[in-house]
Amino acid sequence: MAKIVILGSNGQLGSDLRKVLAPHHDLINSTSQDIDAAAMDVSSQLAPYADAKYIINCIATTNVDGCESNPQQAFLVNSAFTLQLAQFCTFNQITLIHISTDYVFDGTKLGEYLESDMPNPLNVYGLSKYAGEIAVQNYANKYFILRVSSLFGIAGASGKGGNFVTTMLRLASEKDSWNVISDQLTCPTHTLDVARAIDILIAKEVSEYGVYNCVSSSSCSWFEFTEEILRQTGQDINKVKPISYKDYTFKALRPQYAILSSAKIAQYYTMPDYKSALSEYLSL
Ligand SMILES: NC(=O)c1ccc[n+]([C@@H]2O[C@H](COP(=O)([O-])OP(=O)(O)OC[C@H]3O[C@@H](n4cnc5c(N)ncnc54)[C@H](OP(=O)(O)O)[C@@H]3O)[C@@H](O)[C@H]2O)c1
Repeated sequence: MAKIVILGSNGQLGSDLRKVLAPHHDLINSTSQDIDAAAMDVSSQLAPYADAKYIINCIATTNVDGCESNPQQAFLVNSAFTLQLAQFCTFNQITLIHISTDYVFDGTKLGEYLESDMPNPLNVYGLSKYAGEIAVQNYANKYFILRVSSLFGIAGASGKGGNFVTTMLRLASEKDSWNVISDQLTCPTHTLDVARAIDILIAKEVSEYGVYNCVSSSSCSWFEFTEEILRQTGQDINKVKPISYKDYTFKALRPQYAILSSAKIAQYYTMPDYKSALSEYLSL
């Protein structure tokens, strides 16, 4: 049994990782009670994990608009902490599985983003996560960077107070109609599938390190995703109305076509299409 540490184990992805990995691994769950990732020096906080075989880093400041107002927190947690973690893993010969984001891209590619495409983040969150990736690539010996997108999981994102699915279901119960963006594309991804992909990388002791996109194998607009949520929960899909992202005011700019290819991770785990992933999530 490999000793595995999950950093951010109470978060949305961390919670599903606990579920998937706990039955067959010696699991150490680490929360913000154990580590303050915004601290300037985290070496003493990481020290208890020196004998781990894998560390999975789910810690992040995830509130995209919040990062615009508090870049210091974003860079401390998403970049500086990641750099210290990468150095710690190399020193202790630990394999680092680090979670990153589609927001490292600017969303101008009219096709699927490959792992080899050049990042060009549009906002502070994306920039801080990209800096985290650079730190891992430069300071970790054995690492996987998994780029995930538009996560939904039973625990809900702690940094966002829920997930998109729960928000749409709440709006459906409260309103006769509401607007959702129809010209911004993403790959909505169930955290349980990301956890399963990680489980396989560990079980197979994969050593082809590097960057992997780890998203659902199909994409949609937020509007189409909402229609699918309503359809699968037996509600009136006409309640949701399309709106352009140009008519929606966000503090942070967001990529318009954030579609990632899941072909590379498919050699180990086939990510489902977003409709099947949603269907499984709603059945839990
Ligand atoms: N959610 C999305 O749609 C999305 C999209 C693309 C990429 N991602 C990436 O996926 C990963 C997981 O996201 P998620 O949705 O699971 O997020 P989440 O639920 O917000 O989890 C983030 C975790 O980070 C921990 N954390 C935050 N600040 C911390 C600090 N200063 N010290 C210690 N721990 C801290 C939180 O701990 P506590 O709960 O104990 O506070 C929480 O467990 C992140 O790397 C994120 O950037 C997410």
